[in-house]
Formats: sequence, C-alpha cells, structure tokens
Amino acid sequence: MEAGREAATIATARKRLHVITWGCQMNVYDSGRMADVLAPLGYEPAAEPDGADMVILNTCHIRDKAAEKVFSELGRLRRLKDATDGRMILAVAGCVAQAEGAEILARAPYVDIVLGPQTYHKLPEMVARAARAGGAVIETDFPAEDKFDYLPEKAAPQGIAAFLTIQEGCDKFCSFCVVPYTRGAEQSRSAATVLAEAKRLVDQGAVEISLLGQNVNAWHGTEGWGLGRLLRALAEIQGLRRLRYTTSHPRDMDDELYAAHRDLPNLMPFLHLPVQSGSDRILQAMNRKHTADEYRAIVGRLRDARPDLALSSDFIVGHPGETEADFEATMQLVRDVRFAQAYSFKYSPRPGTPAAGAPQQVPEAEKDRRLQALQALLREQQAAFNASCVGLTMPVLFTGTGRHPGQIAGRSPYLQPVHVMGPSDLIGTEQTVTITATHPNSLAGTISQERRRA
Ligand code: 5AD
Ligand code: SF4
Repeated sequence: MEAGREAATIATARKRLHVITWGCQMNVYDSGRMADVLAPLGYEPAAEPDGADMVILNTCHIRDKAAEKVFSELGRLRRLKDATDGRMILAVAGCVAQAEGAEILARAPYVDIVLGPQTYHKLPEMVARAARAGGAVIETDFPAEDKFDYLPEKAAPQGIAAFLTIQEGCDKFCSFCVVPYTRGAEQSRSAATVLAEAKRLVDQGAVEISLLGQNVNAWHGTEGWGLGRLLRALAEIQGLRRLRYTTSHPRDMDDELYAAHRDLPNLMPFLHLPVQSGSDRILQAMNRKHTADEYRAIVGRLRDARPDLALSSDFIVGHPGETEADFEATMQLVRDVRFAQAYSFKYSPRPGTPAAGAPQQVPEAEKDRRLQALQALLREQQAAFNASCVGLTMPVLFTGTGRHPGQIAGRSPYLQPVHVMGPSDLIGTEQTVTITATHPNSLAGTISQERRRA
C-alpha cells in the first residue's frame, strides 16, 4: 500500500507528454523521436491528452482538408488546455505546421509552439523559450545543421517491428505533391549512423526493421553506398530477421537493389512502389519521369529477382487533365501488374504545387466515379492475392496477442495480419505458419513448425 502511494506521488511529480500522430509512418517515427528528445526534461508518455503537461499534434498535409482538420482538433485541445488553467503546452508539429505555421498562430493564438519536421531536435530549447516568453515560438526554417546529429543516442524501445528513418525530403517535385515543400530537399543519413541505430534497435528487441524515407531508394550514404549495399550490411546484423524499405520511386530502382532482392532472404518479398497512374500522358504531367511500360519492366525485373515478390502501390485518380482514356490506362496497368494491396486517392489540390493551378481540373463527381471503379478492381486483386495464400506455408513474425483468448497475432512477409492459436511466449519470434483461411482484413493459420527463441 505504502509503496503504491509513493509511486503515485512520484508519478504526478513527473511531466506527462501526449503525442497525437496523423499521416505516414515517417510521422510515427518522428513522434517517437520527439518523445525521446523531451525525455531528459522529465516528460513521460501519457496515453490521453487530458491533464497532460504537453500535447504535440503531429500533422500531415498530403491530401484533403489538412488545415481544417488541424484547426478543429486544436479547438478540442484548447478546451483541455483551459481545464489545466493554461498550464498545458500545446505544440503543432509536422507538415501542416511547416506549410501553415503563421496561419496557425494567427488563428489559434493559444498554441505555444509551432515546429516543422526538420526542427524537432530544438524542442527542449523551444519549450524553455515558450515558458520564458509567455508567447508562441515558431521554428519552421530548414536549419543548416542535420537534426539527426542532434538527437539523443538514447531512445525508447520500439518493440519487435521497428521503424528507422534513413532518408528524408524529396527533390522530385511531382506536380501534385507538397512533400518537397514541407520536408525540404532530399537528405540521407550516413551508413554508419544507420547501422549503429539498427544495431541498437535489435539490441532493444527488434526482429524486423522497416527503413523509412519519402524517397527511400534514393538513399545514398556519405560513404558512396546505395540502398542495395546498405541492405546487405543490415542483413548481417545478428537477430535481425526481417528488413523492409518504404516508400520507393520507380526511377530509383537500380541494379544493386534488384540484386539485394535476389540475394537477401531476410529482405521481405513485398514492395510498396507507387505508380500513381498508368497513362503516359498523365505520368508526364505528374513529372514522374517514367512511362507505364517502364514501370511494367521494373516489376518484371523485381519478379525475376524474387519470384515470390508481391507489390503494393499508390494511385491518384483525377489529376488535372486526366481523361477517361487516361483512367482506362490506369485500370489496364493494374490488370497487368496485379497488386497484393494498394492505396488510391482522389487528386486533391495542394496550395503552392504546380497541379493545383493547372487548368482542366477534373470534376469531383468524376473523380468519385473513377476512384470507386479503381478501388473495386484493387479490392478484387487483394482478395485474390489473399486467397492465393491459403494452403501456403510462410514465416509469420508474432507481435502481440489476438482478440480471442489463446490467440496470437503477427504479420506475414506481405504485411498481412495473421492470427493463430498459440502460446503467448511465441510473441517476438518468427514461426512457420500454414495459412488455412482468409478474412476480409486478415489471414488465419496454424503453426506448422514451432521454433523457440534461440
Ligand atoms: N492528391 C491526392 N493524392 C496525393 N498523394 C500525394 N499528394 C496527393 C494529392 N495532392 C498521394 C500519392 C502519394 C501518397 C503518399 O499520397 O499517391 O504516393
Ligand atoms: Fe512527393 Fe513522392 Fe513525388 Fe517526392 S517522389 S514529390 S514525395 S510523390
């Protein structure tokens, strides 16, 4: 009893940090690193924003009404801040902060800190300045220094399947995309720092690492390495059973990378390779710098290198100028390639991007119709891919318990959720599973060969 009361007293003396994360896996990673940066100041993770000492809203600007969504969430957080008599520090981070920082401070003056994705290493200093100044602090410049050089060595463990950002930003300037403006120019971390962080993650229990970057296969280490070479070096790390990388651009697939898919058993046979459109005319308007047939050829090379490889992609329907014939070319590309999984979106004009001001915007109703047709085809292909897994035996990395008692849950090489009946001490291990059934969003199976932890 006494010990419990003491622990509770200490806990309330600590500061509580709640981070809300929207958007891509890079934002999930960034949120983790922001928490790491604030840990030395005494901030500990809080599951709920109510009563927290600091709340960070890590935002995404990629599509749709990003700013409106931020302002409506800030309205909710303002009430929670008021309930703490204004003590709660409210920070807006991420790509909306980068693109609309001044607007945020004008419309939501109760926000204390606005910071872009390249400045979160400065958070402790910003927290101190916010406390001193009693006014808002904004940091949305692209600093000359590299934030990765300023992040603490110590980081909270990420668990069995970890993310590791190796590259950030983008120089490709696709017509529709805000990333080159919000995340800035392409920047790679050195191979040495990536390898050191990967080893630390594995020491902390990671069995799988997903390398992240907006243009991850454009990664080039200061050592003159490309991604294929980095994957080879990472594959040597003892205890690291699975490697992935996302998101890639078709233009940056190179010989070394095909060879890595051919040679590395722990490089998972699943690749997210956005194509956006199957029409050469629209690909050109999008500034993608490749044709639909070049994409087909890349897929062919990948499948030659690794016959069990499956693909995922991103598609945009209704880019300015897209005709019915262009859309049909996209449908044909999907039929030709056959995707295991995909994301598809209606084109959404992003302020400041070339396509936003282009004539020939496609009417909303037409975008809706095309999206529905495309999604129906993609759903069919996903269901067919899942069905083709029934009867197969594949390694599954177990990461947690399932919803039903006695069930454990994990991921297939293709990132499909897999549920089996099995003991919870298999969590954290990879087991050979025979797939017995498909459900709409997952697979079921039985462990066919149990391997205990080494
Ligand atoms: N409108 C719709 N979709 C977009 N994406 C990026 N920008 C836009 C936009 N303006 C999609 C692309 C990209 C994915 C992350 O988001 O398909 O690959
Ligand atoms: Fe955006 Fe990707 Fe194009 Fe870069 S390559 S501009 S991140 S869609």
